[in-house]
Amino acid sequence: MGEKERGFGFFYLCNMKHLIAPSILSADFANLQRDVEMLNKSEADWFHLDVMDGVFVPNISFGFPIIKAIKKHAKKPLDVHLMIVNPDNYLQAFKDAGANNLSVHYEACPHLHRTVHAIRDLGMKAGVAINPHTPVNFLQDIITDIDLVCMMSVNPGFGGQKFIDATFQKVKYLKQLIKTKKSKAMIEVDGGVDLKNASLLLKNGADVLVAGNTVFGSKNPVETIAQLKKGG
Ligand code: DX5
Ligand code: ZN
Repeated sequence: MGEKERGFGFFYLCNMKHLIAPSILSADFANLQRDVEMLNKSEADWFHLDVMDGVFVPNISFGFPIIKAIKKHAKKPLDVHLMIVNPDNYLQAFKDAGANNLSVHYEACPHLHRTVHAIRDLGMKAGVAINPHTPVNFLQDIITDIDLVCMMSVNPGFGGQKFIDATFQKVKYLKQLIKTKKSKAMIEVDGGVDLKNASLLLKNGADVLVAGNTVFGSKNPVETIAQLKKGG
């Protein structure tokens, strides 16, 4: 199965089976290839890569060399989540590094319409991430221009944080907005996702679950991914 079929095409073909995107932030960076191969063999659908600049969020993660190294071994699409200011300066570089989906933060983009179209023009799927305090309504004039909404269910910057319960309701609102606007955007929930909250998130309309600590902190990550794929 090619990259395309495993991503958006596959999703629509199978009519609404949700996707799992393990977050590499919680992987063992000294054994990155091992962890990438583990995800290749698992039921994971995407690799979620968190890029942090120490300005938009109070943490610094990794950049192009790591993304390129992952791309060399990954057999599934790279879902890159930019937590950086001025993402417009680096769109081409993320494309060159191997990003398939590129999400920018609503709060970091004064010219969001231009940014998401530039991402699409480069041949990537365009995503918009929103912080927990950002209302879903703020997406109403961009929702038909994007492929993905990355809804933060923690304040971005760190893995292993506690899930914010208000997200359940926000996912419902967003699903409604997507239907009303006849948008094809997928809803991705990112932060504190675990085997307990997964089923309600899916019931409320989530299409993609990101999970870092839940996957990599478990005894058997392949099995944990399989459980998330079953719906938690
Ligand atoms: C947080 C990141 C998340 C994070 C998820 O800023 O965007 O993708 O890695 O990790 P967990 O699932 O551990 O909350
Ligand atoms: Zn993320």
